[in-house]
Amino acid sequence: TLSWTAAVPPSALEEHGVAKAVVNGLSVALYVVDGEYFATADLCTHGQASLSDGYLDGELIECPLHQGTFNVKTGAAVDAPCSVAVRTFPVKLEDGVLHVGME
Ligand code: FES
Repeated sequence: TLSWTAAVPPSALEEHGVAKAVVNGLSVALYVVDGEYFATADLCTHGQASLSDGYLDGELIECPLHQGTFNVKTGAAVDAPCSVAVRTFPVKLEDGVLHVGME
């Protein structure tokens, strides 16, 4: 079953469209795209880089280390050198806080 954990307030995403949170011991990156919220694992699947330090362009997050990209809605690797999808998590806004759902 999915359990929901409070992560960050929506205001944390205002400046860069992306923010990091630790949920159940896992670093997660949260994103806002056109007023909708998404979350992926924070660790790039290509190397030791934090996607929340990257650049969000529409629904693509660009990794800060080698500029590969992922679609934050699906987790799909879009631009090289990324080739392995990043894990995604559901997000909901409840009581003014973004919650991340994990199994
Ligand atoms: Fe992310 Fe290389 S570590 S693209």
